[in-house]
Amino acid sequence: MNTVQHVDVVVSEKIGTISPYLHGQFAEHLGELIYPGIWVGEDSSIPNVNGLRKDVIDALKPLRLPVVRWPGGCFADGYHWRHGIGPREQRPKRINYYWGMAPEPNHFGTHEFIAFCRAIGTEPYITGNAGSGTPQELGDWVEYCNFAGDSSLSRERRANGADEPFGVKFWAVGNENWGCGGSMDPETYAATYARMRTYVFDYPGSTVHAIACGAGGNDWGWTRRVMDFWKNKHWNRLGMVQSLAAHYYCGTAGTATEYTSDQWLELLCKAAAIEGIITGHRAIMDEYDPKRNINLIVDEWGTWHPVEPDKPNSGLYQQNTMRDACVAALSLDIFNNHADIIYMANIAQLINVLQALLLVDGERCITTPTYHVYDLYQPHRNAQAVRFVSQAEAICDGGDAKEYCRAQYADNRELTLQAVQGSASVKNGVLCVTACNAHPSQPCELEIDLTGGKLADVEVTKLACDDIHAHNTFDTPNQVCLAKPEVVAARGNTLRVLFPAASVMRVMGKLG
Ligand code: AHR
Repeated sequence: MNTVQHVDVVVSEKIGTISPYLHGQFAEHLGELIYPGIWVGEDSSIPNVNGLRKDVIDALKPLRLPVVRWPGGCFADGYHWRHGIGPREQRPKRINYYWGMAPEPNHFGTHEFIAFCRAIGTEPYITGNAGSGTPQELGDWVEYCNFAGDSSLSRERRANGADEPFGVKFWAVGNENWGCGGSMDPETYAATYARMRTYVFDYPGSTVHAIACGAGGNDWGWTRRVMDFWKNKHWNRLGMVQSLAAHYYCGTAGTATEYTSDQWLELLCKAAAIEGIITGHRAIMDEYDPKRNINLIVDEWGTWHPVEPDKPNSGLYQQNTMRDACVAALSLDIFNNHADIIYMANIAQLINVLQALLLVDGERCITTPTYHVYDLYQPHRNAQAVRFVSQAEAICDGGDAKEYCRAQYADNRELTLQAVQGSASVKNGVLCVTACNAHPSQPCELEIDLTGGKLADVEVTKLACDDIHAHNTFDTPNQVCLAKPEVVAARGNTLRVLFPAASVMRVMGKLG
């Protein structure tokens, strides 16, 4: 007999509009992400569109991803954009200092990035170089990309093939500047940010949304000290910051594909602790910015497993199983449940690196379980998040992850993982409920009670496998994929659905 787990969806309790940018991505010059994950060059035998892999474009297009962050990561604060424009054969060959001293041919630069974004229908987000770069260099990059009028920089862009400006809205001033981005203390960074931001202009037709480097994990001191500097040092400079971007990696337990049930739970607990990162940093930001003019972003998050044995350590290549899918689902649901305080989130990273959506090898490209979660969760974008209250049993009080999780909460709250965690949203009269059965071996009957409406035309789509280690390989690419939607009848305000262990599910229905 399956246990019955119960959740309440309260349609009248609105949380906020779910920002589509919560489904953002990240593509760094790292390992095999850009070369050959995106760029193979026009002369490659791998089918391509002006040098961009066709299989990757075809796989990503249906996801309608909202935004992709580039070129790093740590790479960004050593990157000089001028190296990546003009005739490719004349571009300087550099070294990727952070990632294995790999050769960097600069064949994928600003124009290629914009072409990639356009090919997959996404918005670009560029991370400027605040570590080794200058304010002039960043200001020039923005002008090169965004100025429609006549200047030597816009002429150069035109000479390089782009008559129209790129209209890049999202610009970050550095990445992890407390570490690889210049080893700065919070005050030094806050001052560097203000100085560089001064030369990032809005040009007619494109208003910049500038993103400052936030904390790594639970470094509450970083958030407090940069906010304090901007607010209280001589003049109030909070208005120069549109978003503050924290990073949170839940790490691993076991390896990417080998783990016990306890390690399954341990990693999911660590993943769920991202809630404390969001609420903790926002609470500190609120002390300085109570009207929430500055948005909170998490522009790097996800799992970080040991690198696959046959790959170089510096490439951060990892497999991706149903466990990663559950991490993605839990995290996206947590973002929805805090739709009022989080604006963008970028999973790390898009292809072949960390918690990737796609893996490529030679001519082959496969989707990962995480890819299917992004597919499943699409209807949440721009929807109104409503309260999802899980009454499901607690299945882990943190276990081996206890200390780790507790540290992620500013107020030392305990974290418990419930068997079923999820979120709900409403758009155009349609309710979308997504959830993860976090239990590694216990299927359940999920009973959803709806307060404030009835459901009709209910469709249930599952991402489930019998094995908690299930993943796709180049030989078995469809081991983990979405099942065909099932039609389920609701009884009054209640809906019962069979929820396999270790799986993710979406329920959609018309609200009446
Ligand atoms: O995503 C990999 C690396 O993790 C990024 O380059 C850096 O910002 C973070 O430490």
